[in-house]
Amino acid sequence: MGGFDFTKRGSFGSRLGVLAAAAGSAVGLGNIWRFPYVTGENGGGAFILVYLVIVFAIGIPVMMSELVIGRRSRRNPVGAFRILAPNKPWYWVGVMGIAGAFMIMAFYTVVAGWTLEYLYQTVIGGFQGRDSDALKQMFEGFRGESLRPALWFAVFLLATSGIVWGGVRKGIENSSKIMMPLLFILLIILCIKSLTLPGSSKGLVFLFSPDFSKITGTTVLMALGQAFFSLSIGMGTLITYGSYIPKDNNLALTSVQVSMVDLLVAILAGVAIFPAVFAFDISPKSGEALTFVVLPGIFNQMTGGMIFSFAFFTLLAIAALTSTVSVLEVIVAYLSEQLDLSRRMAIIISTAAIFIVGGATSLSSGMFKGIKLFGLNIFDLFNFTTANILLPLGGLFLVAFLGWFFPQKHTKDELSNGGTISIGYYRFFIITIKFIAPAAIALVFLNGLGII
Ligand code: TRP
Repeated sequence: MGGFDFTKRGSFGSRLGVLAAAAGSAVGLGNIWRFPYVTGENGGGAFILVYLVIVFAIGIPVMMSELVIGRRSRRNPVGAFRILAPNKPWYWVGVMGIAGAFMIMAFYTVVAGWTLEYLYQTVIGGFQGRDSDALKQMFEGFRGESLRPALWFAVFLLATSGIVWGGVRKGIENSSKIMMPLLFILLIILCIKSLTLPGSSKGLVFLFSPDFSKITGTTVLMALGQAFFSLSIGMGTLITYGSYIPKDNNLALTSVQVSMVDLLVAILAGVAIFPAVFAFDISPKSGEALTFVVLPGIFNQMTGGMIFSFAFFTLLAIAALTSTVSVLEVIVAYLSEQLDLSRRMAIIISTAAIFIVGGATSLSSGMFKGIKLFGLNIFDLFNFTTANILLPLGGLFLVAFLGWFFPQKHTKDELSNGGTISIGYYRFFIITIKFIAPAAIALVFLNGLGII
């Protein structure tokens, strides 16, 4: 997504450029693919309620913390801690982030590849005349193949690298300013269509009437992981982006705006998917297949559905691309700044590494189906461990660092832009990052993993 010139530091031009880049990172498959299926698997309304609380109480403060660390240090995640806490082991938080970035790229790019297959299927009319069962079979059949998913994965990875290679120019910034609103409008159209399907009201009940008995330790951990994943926090993406943000940007305001856009897109995706889930009599617990089965089903019911389908999967692929670009940028910034590689070398090396690990991930429902660790295949392992373990742990260390170890006068200075804007929320923020967020993350984490 737009705004950043990768050859120079501090290169987000305008306020809108910052928002476009950060929202571009946040809004992606996490909102439209992951949020609906995780909601479906974890009880619907109750999950969404927990999710909302987490976004406000933990998500926004963690996002602010990352932006503060990034803009203060003007470095990649490892370099940031090396500068802000010299000769201390804090830089391991950055190292963890780089590892997380690899793991996210490895499975996220695979899912992004699926959107390309679905674009292709739209063009050849592959959904037409298929009911939900047939659409589900189509999805599983495609995933189980070895070559096709891997090919689409490779195409998507190359597109990501291509953008990071060329630097993100005006063209992308400008086009994303059009694409994002378009995605939004299409989502709303989908919501309307979904809500007018016979039998759809059960979907709204499922989404918005919380059944508190469904809230368990696992539910809360899943909501925490989903919030971190969707907001792009806990891994250094926003340290890296923060390092490109101009001094006069109001970091708190940016965090709130990005989080609200992200939340809205996720909820809209839910409202587009769940009424149709019940109208088509699909199980809300269909897992990773959910979005890819339900959406074509809706398009099949629309006049001109294939046009909508084409537009939608194109925009979804672009939304995913602005997210993969932000993750790859973390790795590239790290390799070029810390290991003194040229930017191009850094891109080649990281792309090759992701190609290998992501290739294996892509085959995890095909050729490598039998390979399992802790009962999870490669794909599920990366998906689960990044969101539910690495990101919350990263977030915990990030806020603990800022809350307990970093001199508060610097934090105040960053949030108030050198005393030029008021930070009435500061006391609340500091209490949150010192006590509430670390305690909540630790608790959810240990409880969700069954340790307490
Ligand atoms: N937030 C993006 C999405 O929802 C994915 C993403 C981009 C991400 N950067 C990240 C997830 C950093 C975790 C950490 O699609």
